[in-house]
Amino acid sequence: MNQQFLNDVLEGLNKKPQKTLPSKYFYDKKGDELFVQIMAAPEYYLTNAEMDIFQNKTDEMISALDIQPEINYNLIELGAGDGTKTFHLLDRMVSRGFQFEYMPVDISKNALTGLESMLNKRLPELKVIPQQGDYFVTLEQLKMNNKPKIVLVLGSNIGNLQDHLAAEFIYKLGANLKKGDKIVLGVDLIKAKEIVLPAYNDAKGITAEFNLNLLDRINSELNGNFNRQYFVHKPYYEENEGIAKSFLMSTIKQKVSVFGKEFEFDEGETIQTEISRKYKDEIIYQILSNTDIVLEKKIMDSNSLFADYILKRN
Ligand code: AVI
Repeated sequence: MNQQFLNDVLEGLNKKPQKTLPSKYFYDKKGDELFVQIMAAPEYYLTNAEMDIFQNKTDEMISALDIQPEINYNLIELGAGDGTKTFHLLDRMVSRGFQFEYMPVDISKNALTGLESMLNKRLPELKVIPQQGDYFVTLEQLKMNNKPKIVLVLGSNIGNLQDHLAAEFIYKLGANLKKGDKIVLGVDLIKAKEIVLPAYNDAKGITAEFNLNLLDRINSELNGNFNRQYFVHKPYYEENEGIAKSFLMSTIKQKVSVFGKEFEFDEGETIQTEISRKYKDEIIYQILSNTDIVLEKKIMDSNSLFADYILKRN
């Protein structure tokens, strides 16, 4: 039994007036598989947009990062996933003769093994040093080797954190870096509802399944009795606010128990399960204020949907 998971679920379901569940628990084996399917869904523009940047603005990114041929770097990716976007940057850096080690960091050993074997095959000259474990523990250890660092935080992963937690994350990142080190922060940009909402409500229902899977996970790991027949996926987005939100809505008045604790739901009552913040420059500046990190450049995809901000540790 994962005690932290139980505590977080009980705390979230006790919240008034809005019940919540933390989105980090989406990612069990099934959730990982569903997320891969979401990224391939036609409505989920984020992945292709960032891919466009890594494929077509690679040299611009290398210039913005001011990568020098005579210096040896650590190129660190936090939450590397399958590395398909990063591949283009790695490929270009190798062919331009830059000296660096690629260090993908992930909590999943599986993800790292797959990534390493893909890279060994496709880019045999590249030195890959996978780092399994907590981001900040890893960065703290790497800080000791004195090599300049470039840290990739892609996929708008930071958008799943509330702004004050995103600011805390960037602050901690800065504390584990040295003056002159760089960050590539990939974020989704604020845009019209007509584009954002379908990305969180795909026609095949993969995102709905991804959201409902959290209830299955609570049932199987925390002795819950959610009946997913009586919950539906409800996405929400308003351009003014710039935050996509996912909810699970109870379609009837019902009682649900988790680990022997009972929770009442009214008909139409929701549990908020995720926020996906969309950004503009002002919000990035606000998140960076009170940190040692400054904004150097913004690189956007050809449709201006997504941005990779190049940041520097002062
Ligand atoms: C991982 N994260 C950036 C995704 C997002 O877009 O917020 C998770 C996701 N949730 C629903 N669809 C995708």
